[in-house]
Amino acid sequence: MPETVTPTSNLAAASSTVSAARRLDAIAQIVAASRDMPGALLPILHELQDVHGYVPAESVPVIAQALNLSRAEVHGVITFYHHFREHPAGRHVVQVCRAEACQSVGADALVKHAERTLGCSMHDTTADGAFTLEPVFCLGQCAIGPAVMIDDRLHGRVDAARFTRLIEGLRDAMRAEQNNKNAVEASV
Ligand code: FES
Repeated sequence: MPETVTPTSNLAAASSTVSAARRLDAIAQIVAASRDMPGALLPILHELQDVHGYVPAESVPVIAQALNLSRAEVHGVITFYHHFREHPAGRHVVQVCRAEACQSVGADALVKHAERTLGCSMHDTTADGAFTLEPVFCLGQCAIGPAVMIDDRLHGRVDAARFTRLIEGLRDAMRAEQNNKNAVEASV
């Protein structure tokens, strides 16, 4: 029996095709802008992640072709560096330093606390998409470890209590934002 396609689903499919095409164009532009520089692969991956928040899977064949590499080689570099994400990040990115100086002052315990507080493991995103938890290896704050970066903001001497306060502050802000949004929608 033929599948029934409603006009709404046709529109949705068309719009997602357009946005996929736009994204592919944006990827191609980033690759073209850097492909001729020496060691182009890493700058391209950084730029893709800066623009998209992660390295989209569809960029791998584009990069491979432009740099004359195999897809496996490109994918190998993406997975080798912890910095690169293969999936979109959550609303807030929480990075806990796992390098030596921070480890010596309690980073391991802080990681466990972070996983419990957020309800997700390292490299994962919370079910509500609010937080992504990632390890990082030195934030340049070795004298004031354990160090944490949340989005673009550095925090030193972060113990469990301070970590909880930082996360609760962000949760409160997100709740307030959602309440405002609901109030505006209700008033229209
Ligand atoms: S070791 Fe953690 S900031 Fe340098």
